[in-house]
Amino acid sequence: MKDLVLYDKKRRTFIVAFGGGVIGDLAGFIASIYKRGVPYIQVPTTLLAQVDSSIGGKTAVDLSEGKNLLGAFYQPRLVLSDTGFLKSLDAGQLKSGLAEVIKYGIIKDASFFAYLEKRYRDVLSLKPSVLAFIVKRSSDIKAKIIEKDEREEKGLRTILNFGHTIGHAIETAGNYRQYNHGQAIALGMLVASALSKKLGYINDSIKQRIENLIKSVGLPTRIKNIPLHRVIKAHYQDKKFKGAKNRFVLIQGIGKTRITEDVPLSLIKETIKNYSS
Ligand SMILES: NC(=O)c1ccc[n+]([C@@H]2O[C@H](COP(=O)([O-])OP(=O)(O)OC[C@H]3O[C@@H](n4cnc5c(N)ncnc54)[C@H](O)[C@@H]3O)[C@@H](O)[C@H]2O)c1
Ligand SMILES: [Zn+2]
Repeated sequence: MKDLVLYDKKRRTFIVAFGGGVIGDLAGFIASIYKRGVPYIQVPTTLLAQVDSSIGGKTAVDLSEGKNLLGAFYQPRLVLSDTGFLKSLDAGQLKSGLAEVIKYGIIKDASFFAYLEKRYRDVLSLKPSVLAFIVKRSSDIKAKIIEKDEREEKGLRTILNFGHTIGHAIETAGNYRQYNHGQAIALGMLVASALSKKLGYINDSIKQRIENLIKSVGLPTRIKNIPLHRVIKAHYQDKKFKGAKNRFVLIQGIGKTRITEDVPLSLIKETIKNYSS
């Protein structure tokens, strides 16, 4: 705790969250309860933290009973993202963050998606100007959504969950070891795109573009060694579900989402199966 807490000249306490998403969530949560709340600053050092977890003011820590069980909505005073930190990140971590970046293009910005299709190699080789652009664009997209629905009360934040219903289920069914978050989300986005196609919301070429980009950046396109029934069981935990009704964030095009309830279980199973090997 002492390491987290700093003082300014007037000896007012503040906290600096310097690290990846785990540190950001922990430090943000401590800031929300220490002395009933002290200011904090996010200095995210992973791509995932720079484009996602440092923005939006959700803070949380896990309990042995489950993930994110303690937490609060508590906004940082500042988010300072320096893409120079990403140089020491391992490739798997970089790609995990990239899955969320691709998500922003799919849910909100077709031209950003097209930019990623053209420039993904420069992202992987850590070209500074390209990294700066994708972090800025992703942060702006997330911040704009959060501004309209800070406490997740209006359902607008839901679209940030694209790919996460089945993605989280894959993460859980693989005991959090088989796939990291971004890899699981990439697979979840493939399933969500395929469901969108099966329901007639998008054509095959859009689905194919999404699949091609995910494959090109080196994220997985097949769910390996996880039995279908485990993914199905885990997907019922999704917090978007209302009673017996499931609820998916699907797409009508790149940059345009469509929330759909009551997707038939047979269709979900068939789609996950198509992506399993
Ligand atoms: N609050 C939110 O809105 C939100 C959103 C998404 C994810 N999360 C949370 O974020 C966490 C995942 O975040 P993450 O992917 O950043 O993982 P992480 O914080 O575990 O960091 C991944 C690894 O990278 C190391 N690392 C961090 N910065 C580095 C750097 N610059 N160079 C080399 N290594 C570095 C860390 O020590 C760690 O081993 C999860 O706990 C998830 O629940 C929160
Ligand atoms: Zn995510």
